Amino acid sequence: MSPFNRSLRQDFPSLQKMVHGKPYVFLDSAASSLKPTSMVQAMSDFMLGPYANIHRGVYHDSLKSTELFENAREELLSFFGGNSQEDVLIFTRNATDAVNVTAFSIFEPYVKEGDTILLTVMEHHANLVPWQVLAKRKKAKLAYVSLTDDHQLDLQEFEKACKTHKPAVAAFSFISNVLGTINPVQSMAKMAHQQGSKVLVDAAQAGMHESVQFNLVDSDVTVMTAHKMLGPTGIGCLIAKRNLLEKAEPYQFGGDMIAKVDYESSTWNTLPNKFEAGTPPIAEVVGWAAACAYLEELGWPAIHEHEHLLLSAAYERLKQMKGVTLYGPKDPNNRSSVISFNIKGVHAHDVGTILDQEGVAVRVGHHCAQILMKTLKVPATVRMSVGVYTTIEDIDAFESALKKVYEVFRL
Ligand code: ALA
Repeated sequence: MSPFNRSLRQDFPSLQKMVHGKPYVFLDSAASSLKPTSMVQAMSDFMLGPYANIHRGVYHDSLKSTELFENAREELLSFFGGNSQEDVLIFTRNATDAVNVTAFSIFEPYVKEGDTILLTVMEHHANLVPWQVLAKRKKAKLAYVSLTDDHQLDLQEFEKACKTHKPAVAAFSFISNVLGTINPVQSMAKMAHQQGSKVLVDAAQAGMHESVQFNLVDSDVTVMTAHKMLGPTGIGCLIAKRNLLEKAEPYQFGGDMIAKVDYESSTWNTLPNKFEAGTPPIAEVVGWAAACAYLEELGWPAIHEHEHLLLSAAYERLKQMKGVTLYGPKDPNNRSSVISFNIKGVHAHDVGTILDQEGVAVRVGHHCAQILMKTLKVPATVRMSVGVYTTIEDIDAFESALKKVYEVFRL
């Protein structure tokens, strides 16, 4: 039997409610996913159980907490296809923080005046603004790769840009949080590496939808966040090659990241601690590992099949509606997790507000991707997005709620 049955919904108590007198239909997983009880329970069991600060105490619970924290790091590294000999997982606040650590510490020495940092027009601000600031500081240039008519990344342009600019850094997303476009990150990393670039892959949007395997992606750094993949907020990570991190200077300074402290100067701890100053979000790390265990139990083939069915149904129904412009690749195999659209003559925010009155939650706006909005020549879109707990009944409710928009605006 499919794991995506009604009983799976019981694992997500926040779905069991009415909003504006209607059953709640949550279609905003791309902003942040809902949380299963097992994840919250793992955090609560830890905080009410052996909780103590880590790496500091010689007493029972501190040692136990350290063990749980470091075991979770190992489990996450393995979940993301890292190899504990060659790769290191560094905890950060979120994916944005991980991009900042990469830009201002790990990749910073490789960017020189006149160099190019290569981005794409579909980047989330998290993987764009830090590079703008680094480029300004270093007097480097930015170059952007655009889209095909089908809203996929223009790979020919990407390859050409790699050859022309020989970028110091190429940074791109695994999945666009607006278009749902799945980028061929492995081929892109190869093209950039051939020109000597350092490569960052932003996999924040992929977490709950695609298996992110660091060894296959073959980037220098891949960044992730927990809250988009059933985990808690306040925790993300970067995975990078050990030899790259050995050479890098720490990003923040203070407790836990030092080896020896003297009056005038200090020396740094070994990896990964060198990059983790201060007390980390210990319970959140434990929760993230539990979230990954939940996804692992469902299995990627089943998750893909389920989401494919939901997104195809939603796409087909939207296509039938009058005046709807759909963004993102037409072939469902080239997109994942989200569908962005507009209805002619209605502002995205009005669509969002009417859907909310029907109990349906979607995101409207620029989705932290203003360069992409400029490329699409729209101020905003409506975005529906799915998760493992979304059902075909949610898509039915979404379709009915959209009909209200047509009624209200007499379309
Ligand atoms: N990055 C999140 C989104 O796409 C917030 O909505």
